[in-house]
Amino acid sequence: MRMMGEDAIAILPAAPVTIRNRDVEYEYRQDSDFQYLTGYPEPEAVMVLVPGRKHAEYILFCRERDPVMETWNGRRSGQEGAIADFDADDSFPIDDIDEILPGLLEGRDSVYYTMGANPAFDQRVLGWVNQIRHKSRSGTRTPGEFIALEHMLHDMRLFKSRAEISLMKRAMKVSANAHKRAMKVCKPGMMEYEIEAEILHEFRKAGMQTAYSSIVAGGENACILHYTENNAELEDGGLLLIDAGAECECYAADITRTFPVNGAYSKTQRAVYEVVLKAQRAAIDQVRPGNHWNDPHQAAVKELTRGLLKLGLIKGTLRQCIKDERYRKFYMHRTGHWLGMDVHDVGDYKLDEEWRLLEPGMVMTIEPGLYIPAHSKGVARKWWNIGVRIEDDVLVTKDGYQVLTAGVPTDPDEIEALMDARA
Ligand code: GLY
Ligand code: MN
Ligand code: MN
Repeated sequence: MRMMGEDAIAILPAAPVTIRNRDVEYEYRQDSDFQYLTGYPEPEAVMVLVPGRKHAEYILFCRERDPVMETWNGRRSGQEGAIADFDADDSFPIDDIDEILPGLLEGRDSVYYTMGANPAFDQRVLGWVNQIRHKSRSGTRTPGEFIALEHMLHDMRLFKSRAEISLMKRAMKVSANAHKRAMKVCKPGMMEYEIEAEILHEFRKAGMQTAYSSIVAGGENACILHYTENNAELEDGGLLLIDAGAECECYAADITRTFPVNGAYSKTQRAVYEVVLKAQRAAIDQVRPGNHWNDPHQAAVKELTRGLLKLGLIKGTLRQCIKDERYRKFYMHRTGHWLGMDVHDVGDYKLDEEWRLLEPGMVMTIEPGLYIPAHSKGVARKWWNIGVRIEDDVLVTKDGYQVLTAGVPTDPDEIEALMDARA
């Protein structure tokens, strides 16, 4: 509200409920921006911020208490709960918003509201503003500009507070345990979905959800970047790539590990794995305040290219291969992304066309990989179906970095030792 000033008002709706099929709804997930500002978990709610308004600056519209509806569909905070438990200055029934909101808009010049994310709600906001416009002949000032609330908000979300980091650490600890559990139960002949079930078991046991659809990709499936079918059998001699992370109170973890289904990396698998691991370590080492967003990626690309040359998978000089992006045949994604309430979190990667400098409180993933599908042109058969990604979550600290997901090993010997201890 301090950033907006007293000429402005902000409007932010809760996430809509989405239908899965007929009268079944998808599990409700609050909108990240709404959650960030309110912590309010229910649907059918609207946050309004009116800086400097005497009676109440933070108003939450939400569902009314209703014994019958609550018997069928679950508890509601009601207006009293919105004030007592969620710190709203005032609260009204959501059904009264059409009568109340135009009055709050009166006399405000700017409306902080993000157009385009929720077209049905956009229409309502425009309708409320138009109501004021029609009254303007009687001297009422109509808001003259819309400003996307997310500009301000997403920059705030990029810098994690201590409370946020502690939620993320909880999600990461549970996720690390889930990956270790997968390593400890994995055997040839199991189905990918059985491993997925072990992972989800760890998440739910801790009261958490999954932050995104888990990728449990055995053998050739590891070379499909967003593989989520998870319905193939795990074959002896293949690798298993798992990309899975829990979500704790809307804060995500994002971890990938790649390990041998039978507990021992083959020579070729280990060779590729070690290239990726070296690249990951080099990239992580670039995380510190003052370095820019692209430094870790450049470090990863250099090590991956060096490794590909050494393995004979590409040809040329290191410089030329980096310049021509010859690594891209086997490394086609970037080395990471911001991480927070959204797994691919908000926040600009460039400011004024320049890569952004890293600052304490930012959290990012570092996730290089190499993917060599079968029948890759000019690639010997022994490398086929090797897909490796290693992904950790890294916090930028005052003088460097902290790997927040070190609870599950990346060292291939440590992974084999963990798998050796299988029942
Ligand atoms: N799990 C999505 C990603 O790694 O970006
Ligand atoms: Mn990621
Ligand atoms: Mn991931």
